[in-house]
Amino acid sequence: MNAAIRSEPELEANHADIVRATLPLVGAHIDEITTVFYRTLFHNHPELIRDLFNRGNQAEGSQPRALAASIAHFATYLVDPELPHPVALLSRIGHKHASLGITADQYQVVHDNLFAAIVAVLGADVVTEPVAEAWDRVYWLMANALIDLEKELYVEAGVEPGAVFRNVTVVSRVEDVPGVTVFTVESADSATALPEFLPGQYISVGVRLPDGARQLRQYSLVDAPGNGRLAFAVKRVEALQERPAGEVSSWLHANLGVGDTLEITLPFGDVTVDTDATTPLVLISAGIGATPMIGILEYLAARAPHRQVLVVHADRSPQTHPLRARLLDLGARLPESTLEIWYEEPTEGAHHGWIDLSVLDLPVDADIYLCGATEFLRAVRNQLSTAGIADHRVHVEEFSPTDWRVGIETA
Ligand SMILES: Cc1cc2nc3c(=O)[nH]c(=O)nc-3n(C[C@H](O)[C@H](O)[C@H](O)COP(=O)(O)OP(=O)(O)OC[C@H]3O[C@@H](n4cnc5c(N)ncnc54)[C@H](O)[C@@H]3O)c2cc1C
Ligand code: HEM
Repeated sequence: MNAAIRSEPELEANHADIVRATLPLVGAHIDEITTVFYRTLFHNHPELIRDLFNRGNQAEGSQPRALAASIAHFATYLVDPELPHPVALLSRIGHKHASLGITADQYQVVHDNLFAAIVAVLGADVVTEPVAEAWDRVYWLMANALIDLEKELYVEAGVEPGAVFRNVTVVSRVEDVPGVTVFTVESADSATALPEFLPGQYISVGVRLPDGARQLRQYSLVDAPGNGRLAFAVKRVEALQERPAGEVSSWLHANLGVGDTLEITLPFGDVTVDTDATTPLVLISAGIGATPMIGILEYLAARAPHRQVLVVHADRSPQTHPLRARLLDLGARLPESTLEIWYEEPTEGAHHGWIDLSVLDLPVDADIYLCGATEFLRAVRNQLSTAGIADHRVHVEEFSPTDWRVGIETA
C-alpha cells in the first residue's frame, strides 16, 4: 500500500466543530450538491464530459453518487478519527484517477465548481465564511491525499504526471461466449514496450465515438504479464428497457479489428494479488466479473503454479460464462486449484442455482477476491461474514463507481 495515503490527515479543532455541526445538513443535500456541481463543471468545461468523464455513469447517476459518498465518508472520518482510516476509498479513487491521467492542477478546477455548487444549493446565508473555510480544509485534505498518491503512482509507472496514454495496435481479436470478445494489443511504437503489471490490474481504453467524444472505460487484464502485450475481454452491454446499449463496449465490438490502432492507458488498480505471499487464494466472481480472476490465474500459471487457489464462479449457464474454456484450461494447469461453479440452468458437473458458500471449505487464512455486479457482491459479502471471514481478507473489484454508503468497503 502506498505510503501517501497511510498518513493521518488532521482537521483543526475549530474546523472540526463546524464540520461536525454542518455534516448532517451537507449530508442531506449532498446528492443535490454533486448534481449541481457536475452540471456547472461540464457547463464551464465541456471538454471534461466529452473526453474525460464517463457520460454513461453521469447519465445513470453512479459517478455523482460515488463522489458525494466519498466526500461524506472522508469528512465523517475527519471528525471521528476513531473510525478506520479510509485507505481503501483513497486507494480506489487514486488508482482510477491515475488510470485516467488526472493531474494536480485539475483539483483547483474541481474545487471551484464544487464550492460554487455548495453555495448555490445551501445558500450564502448558511455557507458563511467560517463554514466555507472549514469545508475548504476538508476538501484540500482529501485532495492532497489523492494528489500525493497519484504522484506516487506516476513515479512508480515511470511517467510524468498524467502521461499515461499509449497508442497500441490490435494483434488479436477472439470471440468468446456470445457478447464477449477478447482483444490483445501491443505497443504501436516498437521502441516503447508495454509495461509489466500486477495480477488484478486494469487499463483504460479510449474510443472516439461518432459524435466526436473520446470516452474512456476500464478493462481488467486477462493475460499474464511479461510478454509485452496486454489482453482484455469486453462484454457488450445490451440495451434493456429504458437503458440504452453501452457506448464503448458496443463500439469496440462493432469496430475494433486486428491491425487497428487504439488508445489505452498504462495499467493501474489496487485490487491486486500479493505476489510474494504464499497464502491460499479464493477468487469469487459472477458474469463478466470473471476477467480479473482469469488475469490472476494466468499469473499463477506462469509464475506461481503451486499456490493454492479456490475458484468460485456464478453464471446463468456455460454458454454465458465469459472465458469458461480458458478457466477450465487454467484449472488443468494449476495442480493446487479447485473449481466450484454455480449455473442457474442445471448443468452436469456444476452446482445448481444461486451461489452458496456454506457448502465450501474456505481456507481461514485465504485472501479472498470478489468481482461481479453490486447485488452479487453484497450477497457474497454477507455469506463471507456469516462464515466468519475477517473483512481485511476480502478484496473487492467493482465495475461501476463504488458507492461508499452501501457497506462494501474493504480495509
Ligand atoms: C476497474 C474496472 C474493470 C473493468 N473490467 C471490465 C472487463 O474486464 N470487461 C468488461 O466488459 N467490462 C469491464 N468493466 C466495465 C467497463 O469499464 C464499462 O463500464 C462497460 O464496458 C460499459 O461501458 P459502455 O461504454 O459500453 O457502457 P456505458 O455507455 O457507459 O453505459 C453504462 C450503463 O449505463 C446505462 N446508461 C447510459 N446512459 C443512460 C441513460 N441516459 N439512462 C439510463 N441508463 C443509461 C447503460 O444502459 C449501461 O447499462 C470494468 C470497469 C472497471 C471500473
Ligand atoms: C477531492 C477531489 C476528488 C474526489 C473526492 C474525487 C472522487 C472520485 C470518486 C469517488 C470517483 C469514483 C471512483 C470509483 O470508480 O469508484 C472518481 C472518479 C473520477 N474522477 Fe475524481 N475526485 C476528485 C477529484 C477529481 C479531479 C480533480 C478530476 C479531474 C477533473 C477527477 C476526475 C475523475 C474522473 C474522470 C473519474 C472517473 C469517472 C467515471 O468513470 O465515471 N476527479 N473521483
